[in-house]
Amino acid sequence: MRGYYINTLKSVLICFFALGILSCEDQEDQEEQKEQDGRIVQNFNKDWNFQLGDHPKAKEDSINLSEWRTLEVPHDWSIEGEFSEEHATKPEGGALPAGIGWYRKSFPVPVDWNDRKVFISFGGVYRNSEVWINGQSVGKRPFGYISFQYDLTPHLKFGEENTIAVRVDNSAQPNSRWYTGSGIYRNVYLIAKNKVHIDHWGTFVTTPEVSKDSARVNLEVNIRNSQDTVRNIRVVSTIFDSEDREITSQEKELEISAQDSLTVNHNFIVKDPKIWDTDHPYLYTIKTKIYNGNTLMDDYETPLGIREFHFDAEKGFFLNGEPTKIHGVCLHHDLGALGAAINIHALERRLKLLKDMGANAIRTAHNPPSPEMLKLTDSMGFIVQDEAFDVWKKQKVDEDYHTDWDEWYEKDLKDMVLRDRNHPSIMMWSIGNEIREQFDSTGISITRELVDIVKSIDTTRPVTIALTENIPEKNYIWQSGALDVLGFNYKHEAYKDLPNRFPDQKFLSSESVSGLMTRGSYDMPSDERRNWPPAHNAEFDGNEDLTVSAYDQVSAYWGSTHEETWKAVKKLDFMAGMFVWTGFDYLGEPIPYPYPARSSYFGIIDLAGFPKDIYYMYQSEWTNKDVLHVFPHWNWEKGETVDVWAYYNNADEVELFLNGESLGTKSKQGDDLHISWRVSYIPGTLKAVSRKDGETVLERTIETAGAPAQIELEANKKELDPDGNDMIFVTVNILDEKGTLAPRAENLVKFEISGGGKIVGVDNGYQASLEPFKAEQRKAFNGKCLVIIQSNYENEPVELRAVSDGLTSESITIQTKN
Ligand code: GAL
Repeated sequence: MRGYYINTLKSVLICFFALGILSCEDQEDQEEQKEQDGRIVQNFNKDWNFQLGDHPKAKEDSINLSEWRTLEVPHDWSIEGEFSEEHATKPEGGALPAGIGWYRKSFPVPVDWNDRKVFISFGGVYRNSEVWINGQSVGKRPFGYISFQYDLTPHLKFGEENTIAVRVDNSAQPNSRWYTGSGIYRNVYLIAKNKVHIDHWGTFVTTPEVSKDSARVNLEVNIRNSQDTVRNIRVVSTIFDSEDREITSQEKELEISAQDSLTVNHNFIVKDPKIWDTDHPYLYTIKTKIYNGNTLMDDYETPLGIREFHFDAEKGFFLNGEPTKIHGVCLHHDLGALGAAINIHALERRLKLLKDMGANAIRTAHNPPSPEMLKLTDSMGFIVQDEAFDVWKKQKVDEDYHTDWDEWYEKDLKDMVLRDRNHPSIMMWSIGNEIREQFDSTGISITRELVDIVKSIDTTRPVTIALTENIPEKNYIWQSGALDVLGFNYKHEAYKDLPNRFPDQKFLSSESVSGLMTRGSYDMPSDERRNWPPAHNAEFDGNEDLTVSAYDQVSAYWGSTHEETWKAVKKLDFMAGMFVWTGFDYLGEPIPYPYPARSSYFGIIDLAGFPKDIYYMYQSEWTNKDVLHVFPHWNWEKGETVDVWAYYNNADEVELFLNGESLGTKSKQGDDLHISWRVSYIPGTLKAVSRKDGETVLERTIETAGAPAQIELEANKKELDPDGNDMIFVTVNILDEKGTLAPRAENLVKFEISGGGKIVGVDNGYQASLEPFKAEQRKAFNGKCLVIIQSNYENEPVELRAVSDGLTSESITIQTKN
């Protein structure tokens, strides 16, 4: 436990909204498959029938499904398609097909559910979904990133088969500036509640006072009686620690009128609380039970994280009383080769990589994330900026959300805050990204209205937005006076002037960098700084193979290099931190190249999940781990001039040797973030040694590789859970005879799999590859490719074999968990 951070009047005045704490509701996930007298929550992902195209008859009861596929959601049909620049999504949208698709599922409803309320809950459907139960429409939802549920009860046939049909219409294009995916791409649950129950997203936890000795925890429970009779109920809420030991409990008895709802408040004191922070994301759980007499009517879990945070106009961001720089990345929602279809294990692998790099924050660009993302950010310790929109009323592309704005913005924004407000990781609500209304007076009224909507539900977190206009007179969103924290995108040179331009405001670099890189590709000289493209629509000489150098030397013209940006942000105490554009490459927005480039170059980590060199610059700055990363590879033409860079920390100097001969000792000077040597290439061994006080800290060697000779397989986990959901990511390295990575290898690798797993995706991180992601083979790119295995419900070891012409093949066995 660090420091002292009681809720003083001063801190209330500085930032009255920031002292909450919250926990997560995420009910569908936590209660999956848990049957009891209270509520019944069933995972509803399996056995859907799916057909592309429009099938209006599919909403009716009996149609011939023989041509329909059977599949399990989460599902994204776009990622299964072939790349083409003719697709209406355009390369900006990932150059993959969109269109219309239908899902159907038949399921029995037990007779004894006839005194229950039965809901279907969707984590997200992209886009324009309409849902029918037994031929009756229960609702439409245009926004592709919001979670929603429908009451099926009036149309159900109890004791019989029922049919649900979902039409998904992603045909109006372009509707996004990045890849969206298409279909029921998040989890689905069926929930049967008693008629007296806790409402959808019906709890709200806050911690208005936090100190190291004690925390006050308030829980609001919204209860509904959908019966025609008045009921006496007892509401019991109990806080449990992470080992399920009871900490404290509160109970209330009351009467709830027929067809009515009410709110119960429980106020707790937690003594000696374990505090949630980004290193120790400690989670409690509040279990709420509603009884009628001795009958359990409903039970519900609300996770609880106890933490205090606030922004300060001079000193930036504080977490639990400690000044904490936000080391953040922006993330889009796709999972590379898996497309938009959410899988918590795939996302967890990504967040682990970011955590190891030292990132402590995520901005959910530019839409509400999956519930799984927030579950992970709570449990892994990330600060989250939860973002609602990329556009308001004014469009960025023809068919984007502006077409739905008037009818839906209020509900979509409210639902995001209601769904997410119990997550301790969320510390900012963002109402938008680079919104066009910045530039005209409508920005004032819309901003005020959106901020009011957020605050009508949650006042414990600041409301922010990602702005581009840093001249106050020109920025109408700022002129609304309604924002708590001003987020600015790019223009890092101007950051130092922000406090003069916007006195007494709190600041964040909500988006920065937009550096461009391809993993393992290097252009000399490394200090030639390039803006690609140099200006709007300007021509430039790119690389013929559509790569961009992985030295930190190239950015979009509106952006900056990673080093330029971090140097600026690091120095400014008032700047709460920054969100790098982006943590991972993502599908779509392939700046700076035209098709066949089809995914972005912005990531610190490539689309397959292989870190680019810049990853280690952040690791050397954002962690205390010893870092020494030396690059590029050592396969060049004799006599070629090669720049060798090193990122390092926790050392005074680094000495570089080529074939045993010293090329000199260097140290970072001033605000340098790397050191470099200019070397005339001869093959052999490059070795770097970092030293502190004369003692070696780390050594790294890079060898010249011979011809590709063998395959190496490295799995990211040892065991696969046979639950049908778990995933393992296997990195394929192409090595020479001695075991050195062949840094330019592009051998085609074919996979054979048997046992308890199936291949669900392949990739190599090359942004202009037109090979399909759903395949059992992949060319290596710069020496590597990836195969993703998902368990297939069989409790048998998985055998994976990788073969390639002219290379020694390799196999691995992955055990399944009992
Ligand atoms: C920003 C925008 C992002 C992305 C990025 C690319 O202006 O907010 O969504 O387009 O540029 O550099």
